[in-house]
Amino acid sequence: EVPAMKDRFEDSFAMGAAVEPYQLEGTHGEILKRHYNSIVAENVMKPISIQPEEGEFDFTEADKIVNFAKENDMDLRFHTLIWHSQVPDWFFLDEEGNEMVDETDPNQREENKELLLERLENHVETVVKRYRDEVDAWDVVNEVIDPDAANDQGLRESAWYQITGTDYINKAFETAREHAGDDAQLFINDFNTEVEPKKTHLYNLVEDMLDQGVPIDGVGHQAHIQLDWPTLDEMKDSIDQFASLGLDNHITELDVSLYGWPPTPAFPSYDEIVMSGVLYDQATRYDQLFELYEELNDEISNVTFWGIADDHTWLDDRAEEYNDGVGKDAPFVFDPDFNVKPAYWEMMGYT
Ligand code: XIL
Repeated sequence: EVPAMKDRFEDSFAMGAAVEPYQLEGTHGEILKRHYNSIVAENVMKPISIQPEEGEFDFTEADKIVNFAKENDMDLRFHTLIWHSQVPDWFFLDEEGNEMVDETDPNQREENKELLLERLENHVETVVKRYRDEVDAWDVVNEVIDPDAANDQGLRESAWYQITGTDYINKAFETAREHAGDDAQLFINDFNTEVEPKKTHLYNLVEDMLDQGVPIDGVGHQAHIQLDWPTLDEMKDSIDQFASLGLDNHITELDVSLYGWPPTPAFPSYDEIVMSGVLYDQATRYDQLFELYEELNDEISNVTFWGIADDHTWLDDRAEEYNDGVGKDAPFVFDPDFNVKPAYWEMMGYT
């Protein structure tokens, strides 16, 4: 058996993986137990899974992951309390069933805002109270920055924002703190946190939150990255900058895609990927990446992959979408048959 990743990086940071409940068993489950000491739900803790209808909470799938973490003494990241995607529509409908974003009457808009913030508070409170003793770190809000937004601050103009401004962000953090307690680690999570102007928008928002006394402990860097993008310097600068605000950093959704954006043309199969030799370029990338993470280990306390092995990755969906249904990606350090890839040996520092 190959050495365990969690042991190799024990002195630096926790090693995590995102999982669907079915992956808690079989070979996925074995790899999880051997190599990882932190997990996060890939989908089942999102609002659409937990509260599909107003007031009807369903924790069945989420509980499976919570119990697995407990039984195996793993850290648990919660993903995600608030997001603009994978959130049910009912949050944003007024009492008459109309879209809140379409409301033009100022008084009614004010009422809608109150109602939405109440729903937010109820969701966050219910979830946090249930899992407060199990969860180590919470993604409180996800992807609230959008550099293409029409406003100067780069705030994503989601329904949350259109109806409440930035109040939803502050309310989510305050409610989480109130019910999770002072030891809870509260994170803001986003992608492309290394890249300008997004990084600066996120930095300014977080700095404002700290100035206002909004309880926030860390920044989650999704790290959906490519073979040569972003650069190592960009990644280092971003981590250093958020650390300089006194915040912790987590790498929350790491995968190293073989493609640029959009992912065209894509390899049609895993065999073609292997034959191309690109997995050696990926190995070099993993080598440099984990060397950087180790160098920054005082500023990073958790590194989580957005999956376990190349048999299951959301990146396949994206490759397929842009290539007429044919496309395979291979972002992890385990191949589709759960064997270690060249990237594994490089990230472990054996070469
Ligand atoms: C993705 C899941 O991996 C997919 O299975 C699902 O269809 C869509 O969401 N950023 C995030 C994650 O914060 O929640 C997303 O997860 C990937 C991008």
